Amino acid sequence: MGIQIAPSILSADFANLERDIAAVANADWLHVDVMDGHFVPNLTLGLPVLERLAQVSPVPIDAHLMIEDPDHWAPRYAEAGAASVTFHFEAARDAKAIARDIKRLGARASVALKPGTPVEAVLDDLREFDMVLVMTVEPGFGGQSFMPDMMSKVRTLRDHAHAEQHDLWIQTDGGISRDTIETVARSGGDVFVAGSAVYGAPDPAAEVTALRDLARAACHG
Ligand code: DX5
Ligand code: ZN
Repeated sequence: MGIQIAPSILSADFANLERDIAAVANADWLHVDVMDGHFVPNLTLGLPVLERLAQVSPVPIDAHLMIEDPDHWAPRYAEAGAASVTFHFEAARDAKAIARDIKRLGARASVALKPGTPVEAVLDDLREFDMVLVMTVEPGFGGQSFMPDMMSKVRTLRDHAHAEQHDLWIQTDGGISRDTIETVARSGGDVFVAGSAVYGAPDPAAEVTALRDLARAACHG
């Protein structure tokens, strides 16, 4: 599939979401951070808002669920219109069952790892997932610093997926910018979430293109 960019609306203007989504119509995905105030110490939005965003977004929705009880909730986000649903391994009772439920509803299934969670947690079941999200900050807030130590997880995932001939997408989220995206691309990451880098730029669409170009060049260089 190649390099993909997913702007995070956590850094958009919540009073003007439709406008800010239209501003990144050249992106591959729209990254929507769902936080419940329990799994992470922040609260954002839930099903009814995501459902409307899916109706107005020109690009598919990539839902990142930072919530408890994904066994119950994750499939509901697929039903609400998310084309990709990512839940956290740390919150899941049965990650394989959640992935199967999401896929049965026609969405892509993805599992996320907090910085402290070892990549070995998902290696045995890699084939169950369409994507693994390696968090490069502690989940909860935008604008934090990228954690380069997480690149060993990205490399391990890429190696295992390659050995298994599994077309696994590897997403990174947190501190992705022009300064960090090349490092991730060289490590084997291919789906990039960027919040403050995109929405903090004077021209968000131009920033999406710039990030995509940098990552592509790093892969082929
Ligand atoms: C943080 C969220 C991210 C956040 C990233 O928990 O999952 O998606 O928006 O923000 P930046 O790109 O500013 O680090
Ligand atoms: Zn996110």
